[in-house]
Amino acid sequence: MPNMHVAGSIHADATSPAPQWLVKPDDVNELDRRLWSDSVDRVRDGELSIGGLGVTEIVEQAGSPVYVIDELDFRGRALSWKQSFAGWNVYYAAKSFLTATVARWVAEEGLSLDVSSMGELAVALRAGFDPARIALHGNNKSEAELRLALTAGVGRIVVDSSDEITRLERLTEELGVRAAVLIRVTTGVEAHTHEYIATAHEDQKFGMSITGGQALVAMVRCFHSPNIDLMGIHSHIGSQIFDTNGFEVAARRTLKLMAQFREATGVTLAELDLGGGFGISYTSEDSPSTSQDLAASLSEIVAHECRGFGLAVPTLSVEPGRAISGPPGTAIYTVGTVKSVEIGGGHTRRYVSVDGGMSDNIRPALYAAEYSAILANRASEARPVLSRVVGLHCEGGDILVRDVFLPGDIRPGDLIAVPASGAYSRSMASNYNHTPRPPVVAARDGRLTTLIHRETLEHLFALDAGLNPRPEFEVEA
Ligand SMILES: Cc1ncc(COP(=O)(O)O)c(C=O)c1O
Repeated sequence: MPNMHVAGSIHADATSPAPQWLVKPDDVNELDRRLWSDSVDRVRDGELSIGGLGVTEIVEQAGSPVYVIDELDFRGRALSWKQSFAGWNVYYAAKSFLTATVARWVAEEGLSLDVSSMGELAVALRAGFDPARIALHGNNKSEAELRLALTAGVGRIVVDSSDEITRLERLTEELGVRAAVLIRVTTGVEAHTHEYIATAHEDQKFGMSITGGQALVAMVRCFHSPNIDLMGIHSHIGSQIFDTNGFEVAARRTLKLMAQFREATGVTLAELDLGGGFGISYTSEDSPSTSQDLAASLSEIVAHECRGFGLAVPTLSVEPGRAISGPPGTAIYTVGTVKSVEIGGGHTRRYVSVDGGMSDNIRPALYAAEYSAILANRASEARPVLSRVVGLHCEGGDILVRDVFLPGDIRPGDLIAVPASGAYSRSMASNYNHTPRPPVVAARDGRLTTLIHRETLEHLFALDAGLNPRPEFEVEA
């Protein structure tokens, strides 16, 4: 990751402890528009507002910490992906953030939905999402999950292994249904944050290898399988991708595989799904493409490669997750303690501790993801001070924002807002340290609606068998 740097003594020798990419702002109150959801603005006394509500009011109503989704921004991004990729099938990647209400927004904006677990599938079905517009992913789908997908009539099952084909053959036979499948292939391209690395990244758990031949074998097997309809190929090359080079290589390799399949069977497959992973701005470093530009480039790439292989252009799909759900989300925290720490070389780092942490956003701790933050409840005249926003957990790595300039007068009780928190924050949240997970609210036209209720200690106690025994599940000692 380009923004990744080693914390600690390296800073002692550096002229500044700030990473090179982080520019000290002239005005610490200024919003970098690229990072924030559409409706975010500074209002009275410089307070931040989202969806027409000041953050103080949001916290009064919903508590702290809280994730706020700008509903119109979410819907607008979903629609813009749908319109930019006209003629394509646009699946919203549910893993980035899904609730029943979000599933309804996605349906209303005309997108399809990709799910990657029993839970996501169940939420989508309970929300009334049209099963025919759902694609099911997963490298280890359980029998119960496949059974649910098949009986519900899920539109596509993205097959990840030959064991799964065996399971599907048995279940389709038993249930008397057919399965429309895509074969998930590994193209040898791994797009990793800002770069793609076209090496032998076959060494991973997803998909079947093109170069190793397993993908073609699986395709031919599905093609001959009586209850399986092989519709096409699926490839997902990674996440936070900022250019189309990786997609170009993936398209070439998947279309070459389609040509080989045609040679082997005489049949041209109808569908190619290029997956998700389209990058967003977490910090001022990130410059994502628009969905319009991506659609134009990907269409051109596929058309070009199809010409090369003499193939008709298949029906194409993409699966944006964070590009739709990330930017509309803002996490709001309350500052608890502020301390300055000597880090050598005459430098200090200011640690700003907030009432959340790695339990509500694991990404910085998990893969050194970078975020940004701003003082949200007021504007400040104080000078910018290099700060680190950390959580309340018992882990040194419990960092939310590794490096950010915040005003020097930040103090307990202030509110901090972290942009681009709509994707993979609440959806990856945990109860580490028995911390109840924050709620998610949608802000629109000056009103809040709850998408996910705040978890309380009572919810956690309810699961603790020592506090709340459930006789029916108790195992005899
Ligand atoms: C198969 C698949 N599709 C889509 C996505 C969505 O990725 P993103 O949210 O980065 O667009 C993922 C994310 O891991 C994925 O694995």
